Amino acid sequence: MTGQNVTLAELEKLALADRGQSPMPRSTVTFVCRECGGDSIRWSGRCPHCQAWNTLEEFQVAPGRRELRRPGPASSRPIPIAEVEVEAAPRLVLEWQELNRVLGGGIVPGSLVLLGGEPGVGKSTLLMHLAAQASDGGRRVLYVSGEESAQQVAMRARRLGIASPHLLMLAETDVEAVVTAIERDRPALAIVDSIQTVYDPALEAAAGTVSQVREAAGRLMRLAKETAVPVFLVGHVTKEGAIAGPRVLEHVVDAVLYLEGERSHEFRILRAAKNRFGSTEEIGVFTMGDAGLEEVRDPSAALLADLRSLPGTVVLATMEGTRPLLVELQGLVSPTPFGLPRRSANGVDPNRLHMIVAVLEKRAAVPLAGADVFVNVAGGVRVGEPAADLGLAMAIAGSLRDRSLPPGTVVVGEVGLGGEVRRVGRLDRRLQEAARRGFTRAIVPQGVAACPDGMEVSEVRDLVEALELGFPRSEGPSPRSPRPGKGGTPTDGPAAS
Ligand code: TYD
Ligand code: MG
Repeated sequence: MTGQNVTLAELEKLALADRGQSPMPRSTVTFVCRECGGDSIRWSGRCPHCQAWNTLEEFQVAPGRRELRRPGPASSRPIPIAEVEVEAAPRLVLEWQELNRVLGGGIVPGSLVLLGGEPGVGKSTLLMHLAAQASDGGRRVLYVSGEESAQQVAMRARRLGIASPHLLMLAETDVEAVVTAIERDRPALAIVDSIQTVYDPALEAAAGTVSQVREAAGRLMRLAKETAVPVFLVGHVTKEGAIAGPRVLEHVVDAVLYLEGERSHEFRILRAAKNRFGSTEEIGVFTMGDAGLEEVRDPSAALLADLRSLPGTVVLATMEGTRPLLVELQGLVSPTPFGLPRRSANGVDPNRLHMIVAVLEKRAAVPLAGADVFVNVAGGVRVGEPAADLGLAMAIAGSLRDRSLPPGTVVVGEVGLGGEVRRVGRLDRRLQEAARRGFTRAIVPQGVAACPDGMEVSEVRDLVEALELGFPRSEGPSPRSPRPGKGGTPTDGPAAS
């Protein structure tokens, strides 16, 4: 506006803008993507950040409120990094090691943690256990429920055998009332179940919309930082991610945990998708039963409880964070009745399955073009590691040939496109775990540093060698003799200890 035709009103506007004021309240509407949480000034059919279609939702910033601002340090003078105080207050350590592990060693004061998961997976149940453990030793814990009435929450608590006098209950959905209660009571921990049900009455948007969810989370973030009260939020995700929830809040909160598991299975796995105070590698394993959740300190034992030596069944030694985990994988190959062959993966990445099928065909002459291939990881567990490749291939080949691996065999190895078996990290840790669980044979990539006592370890270079070893064609000697462990004797499957 440097032209000659500047009107008086425009001049006034410019002067106001110079002083950082605006003549009219600034527009408080932006658009936020339901999928990635990215902001846009204008609405468009496609999110400019994540390219998803039809995911932008109108977002209102509450009048007079700054959005999602974290309290800054008292002075803004830079100080040497060595002088920055880290973690002044101790973490709140819970009874269950499985919870502490995922949290990075306990609950950090003033942290905002989001627990996501599909409806019915057990989020409220898990947080009720967590609340009870946090209240041990007389600490006050506030459980705010917007989903269920106080009676319903109390009924669940009774069923879980929880009757801590320090566990306080509040059925509330107004975020300001929640904030007031936390400020007044200063509990050692506050839980808000769920973030989709709390709302700010100053906003016109309905509860559960992006505007409300982000505003309420931002308000609770400021509260957590100001009062040092750690706050846990529950956020539902649907399969389509249709409601405003965890995805939108991932950048706002300090940690995002996901509770996974099939409702029909007893296992529940807690993973950290983001954690400002710990590793995102760790998982916690639980089982859901009549009396709620229980932690599983020895997941390998639990996951192999129903193991039987069947064609197509393979035990893998995978790593979950720093923990080795033995899981049972099953493959089933059957002739395709008509049309295109089906490939169905439960618990493994479908792309990995397609790749392994292709490599088996091309490099190991395993005919699968006219066959349906199904694979399933027992217990509703998900294996995301390439180290599962060799096991996947052996399960498929085993089912096709109707042969089972020698009892007590564990399989580890990544498979390359050339059919070569590649090294994997922490092979020795995996073998130790397998030996601990009573496994006596292992088919692994080359590079074993130490064979555990009582285990025959066979190093293979490629898929063909692995298949020969696992399913020998004749009764003759196997093509590569195994590296003997100390006093290894093949027994009838892993000990059931
Ligand atoms: P819930 O914690 O309410 O799930 P979310 O909060 O994630 O929606 O748990 C719901 C499921 O858990 C429900 O299907 C019943 C089951 N459940 C048990 O099997 N045992 C129990 O002791 C409890 C409390 C729940
Ligand atoms: Mg719930």
